[in-house]
Amino acid sequence: MSLFGTNRKMTTVRPIKSSDIGDILRLIEMAWRIYLRLSPAELRTRLNDLHGFLAEDRVGLRGFLVIEPYQPDTVLIVAAGLRDTWSVEPYLDLLLPEIERAALSTHSTAIMHVGSFTWLVEGLRRRGFETHDWIVIYERSGQSPPPQPDQNPAQIRTAHTSDLEALTRLDNLTFDYIWHMSTRHLREALANAVSFAVAVVDNQIVGYEWSDMYHQHAHLTRLAVHPDFQGQGIGRQLVYRAIVDALAAGANLITLNTPEHNQRSQALYQRFGFVSTGERLPVLKKRLK
Ligand SMILES: CC(C)(COP(=O)(O)OP(=O)(O)OC[C@H]1O[C@@H](n2cnc3c(N)ncnc32)[C@H](O)[C@@H]1OP(=O)(O)O)[C@@H](O)C(=O)NCCC(=O)NCCS
Repeated sequence: MSLFGTNRKMTTVRPIKSSDIGDILRLIEMAWRIYLRLSPAELRTRLNDLHGFLAEDRVGLRGFLVIEPYQPDTVLIVAAGLRDTWSVEPYLDLLLPEIERAALSTHSTAIMHVGSFTWLVEGLRRRGFETHDWIVIYERSGQSPPPQPDQNPAQIRTAHTSDLEALTRLDNLTFDYIWHMSTRHLREALANAVSFAVAVVDNQIVGYEWSDMYHQHAHLTRLAVHPDFQGQGIGRQLVYRAIVDALAAGANLITLNTPEHNQRSQALYQRFGFVSTGERLPVLKKRLK
């Protein structure tokens, strides 16, 4: 535990305990500078597995910062937030060193952050985070039906919970490690998704897509085809299914994010009427000494 400042304005920094979740959720509801890569419900259930620190004073919680181990050597910032009356600079000055020490203690050599908010991205850049990659955002407006694929090499069906382990293996094989999903993530996604479909060839799951829905806005969160089955039209079948399901649920806007260097996925999305919004999100990385 560390103490900062004068007695009158003393701020304490300490690891987050599971009993802090109520205060954290209240701050998440009230404050404008909040970054969450997981839902508040997931934060509540997973708080014990994550490393997090908070800053507090006599008034209560001032801010929090939480990381998740992603790979043996890398952690990812999954939650951050601070009280409206506090500033980002002292917030990061107090909490980031604690997070870095916690990361090093788990033998991690880097911290990553998928940026969406300037206040956090700029603060992290000033503290040694560098751009590792860019994510581009695509959208498809309106309710025009998608072009039907001319070939159907795979059977497309709704995913079941019994598919989750095969999906986790497929996900880890297909994506760069920063994007890997755990079985638990996938289970929650399956419970909440507006569309979650798998592609099956010879009884083997070789691809999947899932989309989430917020009011009339759908987001194609995930699309993956096993490397041995790519280039055969299965991606097209899955995007078609995602759009059809989203439109059937009443979506009039479908968005998605994809790495800027992924020309293949962008060609696929453009074929289905997605256009780039021109927005980019940075993937930041800081190497730890
Ligand atoms: C992106 C991905 C889902 C595409 O799936 P796929 O089954 O290979 O795609 P398809 O065979 O249906 O082809 C769709 C389009 O991809 C492109 N494409 C497919 N294979 C390609 C290849 N070997 N080289 C270049 N482009 C290719 C083409 O633009 C094709 O469009 P076309 O109809 O004009 O031929 C798949 O490559 C993948 O899982 N990649 C890794 C994960 C990923 O990038 N996910 C999406 C980003 S979040």
